[in-house]
Amino acid sequence: MSLAAQRDIRHILHPWQHLSLEHCAEPLIIERAEGAYVFDSRGRRYLDAVGGLWCNAVGFGRGDMATAIHEQIKRLSFANSFVDMGNPRAAELAERLCEHAPQGINRVIFTTGGSTAVESAIRLAHFYWSCRGKAQKRHLLALRGGYHGSTYMAASLTGREDRAAEFAYDTSTVHLLASPKMFPAHDAAGESDFCNGLIEDFERQIARLGAECVAAYIAEPILGSGGVVVPPHGYHVRVRELCRRYEILYIADEVVTGMGRVGEWFASHSVFGVIPDVIVSAKCLTSGYLPLGAALYSDEIHAAIAGSPHAREFAHGFTNSGHPVSCVAALKVIDIFEREQILRNVCRTGAYFEHRLRRLLEFPIVGEVRGMRMMIGVEYVADRVSRTPFPKDFNVAGRVSQLAERRGLLVRSCGHVNIISPCLASTPEQVDCVVDVLADSLDELCQSFNGC
Ligand SMILES: Cc1ncc(COP(=O)(O)O)c(C=O)c1O
Repeated sequence: MSLAAQRDIRHILHPWQHLSLEHCAEPLIIERAEGAYVFDSRGRRYLDAVGGLWCNAVGFGRGDMATAIHEQIKRLSFANSFVDMGNPRAAELAERLCEHAPQGINRVIFTTGGSTAVESAIRLAHFYWSCRGKAQKRHLLALRGGYHGSTYMAASLTGREDRAAEFAYDTSTVHLLASPKMFPAHDAAGESDFCNGLIEDFERQIARLGAECVAAYIAEPILGSGGVVVPPHGYHVRVRELCRRYEILYIADEVVTGMGRVGEWFASHSVFGVIPDVIVSAKCLTSGYLPLGAALYSDEIHAAIAGSPHAREFAHGFTNSGHPVSCVAALKVIDIFEREQILRNVCRTGAYFEHRLRRLLEFPIVGEVRGMRMMIGVEYVADRVSRTPFPKDFNVAGRVSQLAERRGLLVRSCGHVNIISPCLASTPEQVDCVVDVLADSLDELCQSFNGC
């Protein structure tokens, strides 16, 4: 075992690390990375189809990114953003993000990552309603199966089944709505009925709580770590209408879907036809080079909080809000997006990827391949006709991940689903490799079931 692995085991508690002894495997120590590839401490190369952790947009280890970051550190390595202080990089980044956001969204709160941006969005919602004289609007709606982060409120808004009962959550103001996941319980023919059911559930919750008490709803345009769940057709637009009707702020958590992963700057409007009140971004925002998050919000919200007779300081933020070095990384990512036409690559190579992935349906244990462009989920079933899931402890997706890893490919496993989120600058050859290695891994797994 490498020295790094020994030190890691001795000292680090990882996010989501399984603490039982039987799960105590040697950690995969990544030493370096280049483009779409990572290299472990033994020098083995892997095609990283996890994309870091959804965040590899322009490729790892780029000289131009390093130069921009290096120059910024020499010029201004930190800047206080509190109260009335700022820095040029944060200001420029805010302007450029708003240029790519849907119309009417021209304001930004910078944070340190996705969870903190979700926290800021919720703070903003509460502040906004108080400024409008509706301080009783405190309750929040989120989806079962959704993921919004790991800080207290972000974890409370997270409706994933595997959230740990050992932690405490805010259950007094957070209310979880029915999951929009159709597979395996519903088939495509029942999509519109399924969608109607979700809308009824939404309205029921509002009726139960009283619209005058509900501050915001938080969406993921496509639920990411909940298993790449694309809600039924028309769902987002209908929920947007309900939010407008009942005066509930619509927050789109685009930590995963934003900044190019599905081929658009932001998916809410461009893909799903919805203009949110607040958009949360992180991950591909800096392509993972440095930590940064952002909550982009509407002029309408700003007018209300700034013009209110109760206007006061927005008493929320972080030491590293608008960090100039993180902001320069994000600016460089936007430059590269524009110069190298990354969104176009996601659309073209992503469409090809979707097409190639259909090959996986040849395997009887593949129940559904879903998602879009560079955001894909492959869900497994023990029996495709009855759509019976595998027993949980069979860990089917984990097995596929392990077999793929031995072949030099990293894919993530969550429950019965493998999540695939390669670098946005991936080439057709690289996505071919993802599909081929997955197919070989599935072949091996199926053979181990004795002629399945
Ligand atoms: C949709 C979504 N929101 C929020 C977060 C939290 O982001 P972070 O881990 O940067 O705090 C994540 C992280 O995976 C996410 O997928």
